[in-house]
Amino acid sequence: MNKVNVLLLGSGGRESALAWKMSQSPRLGKLFIAPGNGGTPQYGENVNISPVDFQAIEEFVKSNEVDLIVAGNEDPLVKGIYDYFNERGIPVVGPSKAGAALEGSKDFAKQFMVRHNIPTARYRSFSADNIEEGYEFLESLKAPYVLKADGLAAGKGVLILPTLEEAKASLKEMLSGMFGASSATVVIEEFLSGIECSVFVLTDGKEYRVLPVAKDYKRIGEGDTGLNTGGMGAVSPVVFADDEFMAKVRERIIEPTVNGLAKEGIVYKGFIFLGLINVDGEPMVIEYNVRMGDPETEAVMLRVDSDLLELMIAAADGNLGDMPLNIDPRPAVTVMMVSGGYPGDYEKGKVITGLDAVDGSIVFHAGTKADANGVVTSGGRVLSVSSYGETVADALAKSYENIARINFDGKYSRRDIGKDLLNYKK
Ligand code: AMP
Ligand code: GLY
Repeated sequence: MNKVNVLLLGSGGRESALAWKMSQSPRLGKLFIAPGNGGTPQYGENVNISPVDFQAIEEFVKSNEVDLIVAGNEDPLVKGIYDYFNERGIPVVGPSKAGAALEGSKDFAKQFMVRHNIPTARYRSFSADNIEEGYEFLESLKAPYVLKADGLAAGKGVLILPTLEEAKASLKEMLSGMFGASSATVVIEEFLSGIECSVFVLTDGKEYRVLPVAKDYKRIGEGDTGLNTGGMGAVSPVVFADDEFMAKVRERIIEPTVNGLAKEGIVYKGFIFLGLINVDGEPMVIEYNVRMGDPETEAVMLRVDSDLLELMIAAADGNLGDMPLNIDPRPAVTVMMVSGGYPGDYEKGKVITGLDAVDGSIVFHAGTKADANGVVTSGGRVLSVSSYGETVADALAKSYENIARINFDGKYSRRDIGKDLLNYKK
């Protein structure tokens, strides 16, 4: 069996979980993580290179005999890392630049869904030239109003406004550069009401495999209140994503997406993240992302009972064939420990203690780094505490037990991750 040297790009909890999973594979030669975090040296070697510095990556890949590049986050994909290395004969797990537009341009994603009859909210796109038509379109919709910056805006580009006046004012601000060039075009869409879930697909451009479904918790406050964050926790499975719901997801969303990309000649050999909303039992697409979710990956990887590296190699080769992706039936969850003040201002450099006392959970590092004082905080989302359980509730209890053992100045976690689903009734 030939070993494969992998360069994983990114530094968050998602990349820690991907590194953890890949490090279990007999196919793995060396694993490099660029830039990695304070925990990733458990799985491989950290390399101080930015995921968007393609030239530096190229030099590193050549001098270290890297066989496969895995992009954890969207930035390098949207900037065309797949195409850059495809020209140089190095496979990348991920879409081509054209495919990455599913995340990089909301307008492109909406047009794609319309072309392939994929269920999504009714919408129109506007620029400064036709702002008056934008106001009229808003008048034709009911509150609340959903406005989305077309381009990447670090997860902040979606505004949901309660009144028509606020929606019109925000449209004007967005088109006047509220999110820079990202909001030069704004997608306005119908508000959908339902519960969201995250569905992950690995495709080689023809075949696909569906990973375990997860739900994430985006707001900072309990009961889903307060500001949006990068994600405060995740659970898998998701009760309402049963066989009937998932059959609809495959038939109406996944297959038309994979086949639509192929028909349009868009190369896509990587993960597709479908942000779905369940509207009275009918799945609709809220957004596409072209990478795995964070923190969903920190729960989902626990439930992947197949060799993820083999699957990624096959996807990058266009050769997924009938390779199985087995799912561990045990539920898994993750709860984030974040810095006090996040997602607003917070302090860094707080010493983390108690990691040795963790028992029965897997801790994935996110915003951490190693320094002379040991492992210290270096970001808003610091650690992702993941657990298996007989039930989701049982898994959550384990994560919370271990969170109590880990300390850093200002630590905060939501205590209600998964609670909404525990009492979910169809
Ligand atoms: P996005 O970045 O597109 O995922 O949007 C961020 C969040 O805004 C989503 O996770 C939803 O909670 C919410 N959202 C986006 N679009 C809609 C919509 N059409 N209806 C209701 N909520 C939405
Ligand atoms: N958890 C949502 C995301 O990764 O975008």
